[in-house]
Amino acid sequence: MGSKIIVFLFLLAGFSFAQKASTEGDFKYSDFQKPKFCGAACHTDFYRQWEQSMMSQAYTHHWDEIEYFKLAVPHADRDPKVAEVKAGCNGCHAPIAFLAGDVPPPRPEENSRANESVSCDVCHSIAGYEGDTPYNFNYIMKPGRTKYSSRKGEITSPSHDIVKSELHSKGEFCGICHNEKSPYDVWVKSTHLEWKEGPYAAEGVQCQDCHMTKADTKSAAMGATYKDTKLHLFHGAHDPGKVKGTVELRIHPDIRGAEPGETVKFTVALFNQKTGHKFPTGSVEDRIVWLHVEATDASGKTFHLKVDPKGFDGEEYTIAAEVLAYQDMGVPLDDPNFEGVQRDGVPIGDRIFRMPYFTKDGIMTIQQWNTASLGVDYRIGPRETKVETFTFPVPFEAAPGKMKVKADLYYSKLVKPVADFLEVPAEESEPVLVNSHFTEVEIFD
Ligand code: HEC
Ligand code: HEC
Ligand code: HEC
Ligand code: HEC
Repeated sequence: MGSKIIVFLFLLAGFSFAQKASTEGDFKYSDFQKPKFCGAACHTDFYRQWEQSMMSQAYTHHWDEIEYFKLAVPHADRDPKVAEVKAGCNGCHAPIAFLAGDVPPPRPEENSRANESVSCDVCHSIAGYEGDTPYNFNYIMKPGRTKYSSRKGEITSPSHDIVKSELHSKGEFCGICHNEKSPYDVWVKSTHLEWKEGPYAAEGVQCQDCHMTKADTKSAAMGATYKDTKLHLFHGAHDPGKVKGTVELRIHPDIRGAEPGETVKFTVALFNQKTGHKFPTGSVEDRIVWLHVEATDASGKTFHLKVDPKGFDGEEYTIAAEVLAYQDMGVPLDDPNFEGVQRDGVPIGDRIFRMPYFTKDGIMTIQQWNTASLGVDYRIGPRETKVETFTFPVPFEAAPGKMKVKADLYYSKLVKPVADFLEVPAEESEPVLVNSHFTEVEIFD
């Protein structure tokens, strides 16, 4: 009898502690400390690291501004199904503007506090998240004197108290913003979910281990030195050094010598040795990774090799082709006859590692909020090796002698034709060479 009452009390307590995510209008801008305040005299290194990461630019970055103001806001105004994103984008990109109910926030050039983007006090006011799965900014915010962080610290700061939070050292913390469901209830961002079902989570390797690496240094100017101070690097797709070498390539031929007209089959193995999630991840609707194979004969003439199709469902989206897509941009741009732009912007016949997103009408889209279904997932998983083949009839014009065949893997943050069309600065679509490898075959007379 007594134990039943205790169980009942526990259930009651658990129930009353199940908290709701914070939402629009719950707080004022002034409830949150400015990052400059945290960084001025105490956390100087963390501040400079954060300032150079995308966290500090989530609202102000050119492509974010263009996508939000040129596409998302007008789309939300025209289509009730996606109306929620007018406020919702800011739940992750400008959390304090969202929480203050400032929708849409002033443009970046107006220098409002929305520009603080994902600030120190956003992350260090997160006390938990609603429900079992972190996604769609379901954070429970408790701004104030108490900061939530991974270490209580030996030295007490005069400006705040600290509550040790296990969540801050776990991938789930990142999932609050790095998992996203569209208004059509489709996972359009699932970096945390990909990680969770992959090898790294099973081994206890967290997001923080690769993006907030640990070093023997101080976490505050007048604080103690720790062996495992968590640097606030948050380096990802916008750091070419992070992207380079993510996938290793090896290419080999089936025969070492051939005459013009004979066929050589080249095999490329691609091993994802670096990411804890799929590659690409995150803004998968924008990102493009492609494998380009080219032969150079003894006289310097080059020949482009096209990938051999494997025959899986949806494969047409993974081989570069001359087709148009993204016609749904016509809705926010108020151009009902918009014919779209080139889908890939990479050499025809190259293999593309991607997952296409589709609208309810089956149009391939970069508007992740307008996504009603996902296509084939042909990205490279953590520690996965994919194999591609290239069957190549040696051209009659190939010069005799050594022919060099090179495989290059490229990555670009935003499909180039879309970037050019929306006038997104070139740095966003510039290809980064992830890796390359070459092999040789002898061309006989
Ligand atoms: C409050 C929301 C929020 C939380 C929590 C959060 N992020 Fe982010 N993160 C963002 C947003 C928004 C961006 C996109 C910035 C932009 O617009 O390019 C981002 C960008 C990044 C990038 C840069 C990606 C690139 O394109 O270069 C990395 C890396 C990253 N986050 C890692 C993490 C890790 C690791 C954690 C957990 C320790 C985390 N984030 C927690 C919102 C968040
Ligand atoms: C995207 C979220 C995010 C942002 C933005 C952020 N932090 Fe953190 N911070 C974390 C997480 C997560 C940890 C704990 C990491 C872990 O345990 O692996 C942490 C840890 C810390 C620690 C403790 C470090 C240690 O090793 O003891 C301090 C101090 C800190 N942050 C200060 C700051 C300051 C100052 C800023 C702004 C310049 C800032 N943080 C911005 C997420 C964030
Ligand atoms: C084993 C190391 C490792 C782990 C663990 C890891 N990442 Fe990454 N992450 C990388 C590397 C390397 C890249 C750069 C290549 C790329 O862009 O995918 C990257 C890229 C990213 C990007 C940019 C991706 C893009 O294409 O725009 C984001 C965002 C990110 N990581 C977030 C996370 C989050 C959140 C977690 C945990 C759920 C996590 N990472 C776990 C290594 C890791
Ligand atoms: C659940 C959190 C969340 C929501 C909601 C969200 N984003 Fe993001 N957004 C992110 C994260 C995290 C990244 C970084 C992913 C990566 O690097 O691959 C990102 C990346 C982006 C990027 C690419 C930035 C770059 O420089 O490559 C753009 C643009 C963007 N978001 C715009 C929007 C718009 C517009 C909306 C509303 C329709 C929106 N986001 C809603 C979390 C969110």
